[in-house]
Amino acid sequence: MKITVPGVRHIPTRTAAVAALALAGLLAAAAPAATAAPVTSQRPVRSAPAPALEASALAAPDIPLANVKAHLTQLSSIAAANGGNRAHGRAGYLASVNYVKGKLDAAGFTTTVQQFTSSGATGYNLIADWPGGDPNQVLMSGAHLDSVTSGAGMNDNGSGSSAVLETALAVSRAQLQPTKHLRFAWWGAEELGLIGSKYYVNNLPSAERSKVSGYLNFDMIGSPNAGYFVYDDDPTIEQTFKDYYAGLGISTEIETEGDGRSDHAPFKNVGIPVGGLFSGADYIKTAAQAQKWGGTSGQAFDRCYHSSCDSLTNINDTALDRNSDAVAYAVWTLSAGSTIPSGEVFETLTDVSIPDNGAAVTSSLTVSGRTGNAPTALKVGVDIKHTWRGDLVVDLVAPDGTAYRLKNSSSGDSADNVIATYTVNASSEVANGAWKLRVQDVGAQDTGYIDSWRLTF
Ligand code: TRP
Ligand code: ZN
Ligand code: CA
Repeated sequence: MKITVPGVRHIPTRTAAVAALALAGLLAAAAPAATAAPVTSQRPVRSAPAPALEASALAAPDIPLANVKAHLTQLSSIAAANGGNRAHGRAGYLASVNYVKGKLDAAGFTTTVQQFTSSGATGYNLIADWPGGDPNQVLMSGAHLDSVTSGAGMNDNGSGSSAVLETALAVSRAQLQPTKHLRFAWWGAEELGLIGSKYYVNNLPSAERSKVSGYLNFDMIGSPNAGYFVYDDDPTIEQTFKDYYAGLGISTEIETEGDGRSDHAPFKNVGIPVGGLFSGADYIKTAAQAQKWGGTSGQAFDRCYHSSCDSLTNINDTALDRNSDAVAYAVWTLSAGSTIPSGEVFETLTDVSIPDNGAAVTSSLTVSGRTGNAPTALKVGVDIKHTWRGDLVVDLVAPDGTAYRLKNSSSGDSADNVIATYTVNASSEVANGAWKLRVQDVGAQDTGYIDSWRLTF
């Protein structure tokens, strides 16, 4: 509550205010270079980020196998609690969707459950968008989440579902800001004939289809007698996976069990570049394959394919580990994560006076040379000199006009100055452009000015 007697309300604090101003004056006098320097409208400053941070922001992470297996264990428990499977139209399927969705929601994804009907039962696709990136270049990664009715579907396709989930969670942990927009999908009713993925593609307006620059499919990537197969489709995607395995010294083969057998097919059929990984199903491993990959020749890659024994023990941990890392490598590489380090500072030193109890004023700051969107934790450093900061309402205004409230007025806050760093989730804003600090003084008598402010990306 403000004391309304004019000329009186600040008396108790004037002494302190004067002292603070005097101190500020001394500091200014002690730093003549700063005041004498030509006041440029803006001085971009590139700080030196810690190399370790920079490297981790750019390199694809090692996906922890333990995390992938923890998701598999949860899916196994879901099957056990729901009649032993996670099949389309059964309770275990929707429970699987809810498990994956819960993890993604908590990690900051925008999730959508798309319903469809097949064989008289409701099916569900789960779609998760990572905020930011170029909406005209969407990189999708997906896996079918349904099992057959005969078992829990741990290799087919808890393996792909869990690896894609953990990769999405790694995107969130890294707060990745790729050039492309990332979308992840878990398909329903694949086992009934690619029903969910067909439904998604058929219902994607053609304008949206043309924005999908690639679809990566992961169906069966932890086969117990594993092979390392790369889909022979889009050359760039294929080469990306081959590069990853070359780095491990593992030779790959082209996936030949049939192009139409998983959820990439509907994408491929409408001209979207596709690729993916596969560790083998019911085909028999040859002697030559056992030679280079290990395992047992004369035996199926997955003897439990579509059987009740496709349980938690039907997983080759080494294959699942390598293939999960390959998912992340492809997502990071193909979405071309920003090569601009975090920690870049844009600052303006131009003073803007704030009229007493008057209209809002703005100070503009042009950000350039960044790619993609602003970070989820954009730091806004504010230095406003004022003799009663409770008068001030402060907003950050993004280039598109969206305002983010940094500070409300609070008439009782008689302290001087607003010198603070605020954190704003600006991940839905394009980084480059004219950002503004908007300040309004909503209380009579005390005045001040914007001294400087900065954005740290
Ligand atoms: N889910 C597929 C199926 O049930 C598994 C599969 C078999 C597969 N062959 C494939 C997946 C080839 C990708 C590529 O048929
Ligand atoms: Zn499958
Ligand atoms: Ca005022």
